[in-house]
Amino acid sequence: MTVRRPALGAGTPLPGLHRPEQQQGLSRLPAAQQPPWANHPDLACIRAELADLPALVVPDEIRALRRALARVESGSAFLLHVGECAETFAMADTDNIAARLSLYEQMADWLADRTGRETVLVARMAGQHAKPRSEATEALPDGIVLPVYRGDAVNGTQPTPLARRADPWRLLTAYDRSQDTLRQLQAQAGPGRRPVFVSHEALLRDYEEPFTRGGFLRYAASGHLVWVGERTRGPADWHVRWAASVANPIGVKLGPSVTTQEAVDLVRLLNPEQEQGRLNLIARMGAAVAADRLTALSRAVAGTGSPLLWQCDPMHGNTRKSGDRKLRLLPDVRAEISAFVRTLTAAGCHPGGLHLEVTPDVVAECHEDLSSAPGSGPRPPCDPRLNPAQALAVVDHFATETNHHQ
Ligand code: PEP
Ligand code: CO
Repeated sequence: MTVRRPALGAGTPLPGLHRPEQQQGLSRLPAAQQPPWANHPDLACIRAELADLPALVVPDEIRALRRALARVESGSAFLLHVGECAETFAMADTDNIAARLSLYEQMADWLADRTGRETVLVARMAGQHAKPRSEATEALPDGIVLPVYRGDAVNGTQPTPLARRADPWRLLTAYDRSQDTLRQLQAQAGPGRRPVFVSHEALLRDYEEPFTRGGFLRYAASGHLVWVGERTRGPADWHVRWAASVANPIGVKLGPSVTTQEAVDLVRLLNPEQEQGRLNLIARMGAAVAADRLTALSRAVAGTGSPLLWQCDPMHGNTRKSGDRKLRLLPDVRAEISAFVRTLTAAGCHPGGLHLEVTPDVVAECHEDLSSAPGSGPRPPCDPRLNPAQALAVVDHFATETNHHQ
């Protein structure tokens, strides 16, 4: 029988499964979606340098986030988890950081005002520098085939062979930019302002391993919340086993292909001791199938007894193509949010989290309908994001739906 742990008090050590046996054998596991740099002559030296750098986040902050997320799980708060799809190194600039933070805070304030409940803010920020990709290469209009962009921690966005070469020295720059970003976030924190926690997809083994810190209790020192993406959530993959070995709040993306058995296995692997504030299930199903898939999934995972924080990511299951451009339609985004709130509420779960890709720039990457989508103009570094007006409207829609169903 599993003994449920008490709520996390201020002085409670980070509990967990983070025992030495969880860490054994990790280095031998296969990891999906790694850059093709395994034989780079400098890799070992870069990893050693990363392992010597100060932690970006500390256990006290991780513990505070876990307590806040436990309040979301219990239904007394909401989580707003927002940010860029891919942070570029250039975004670690004072004005850009301030603009992002200001938008995220406005969204969180709006959600708190509309629902009358506390809103916990987690920003995809200070480390969201690596991207999983469906294809390893892309063909340019002139027929030249290049490796895909995998995030600034791996290669560059420019469509040239040199920029697209995977370069592990970029990992050190990723650390510097993350540290600059965190310093500025901390400088802007003040009395009366909500704490901002940071998150990223824990994708690159050569970055996350050197930042796995602590003694008996291990934690990811690279960010407060780390998540495992849709393409790397295989139960035998390094990503899942590594996430199980650290004490941070963990997210795992669940796309339309996940089976109920896989979801139950992931919950058991990632939260075997049924801890509070630990596990975020980030549903990114697509508007057409969300209600159907979530009905079965939410019932099955509730049966594990694990406390769970459900997040709705209405972006990644709703990516469409128009010519060679990716876009997302706002009716799809709203429909997936409505299905998420309705279905989880009916299953007796709190639809507590909203996960969005947004930018403070006034861009046109998401649209009301296909006819308004432009065929030219600037492209986002990765996926289409909501601009500020769209972002606030989507938060408002989520608040309306949750108010309606509670
Ligand atoms: C993302 O969150 O940017 C992402 C790549 O998501 P997913 O793993 O759900 O496709
Ligand atoms: Co994305």
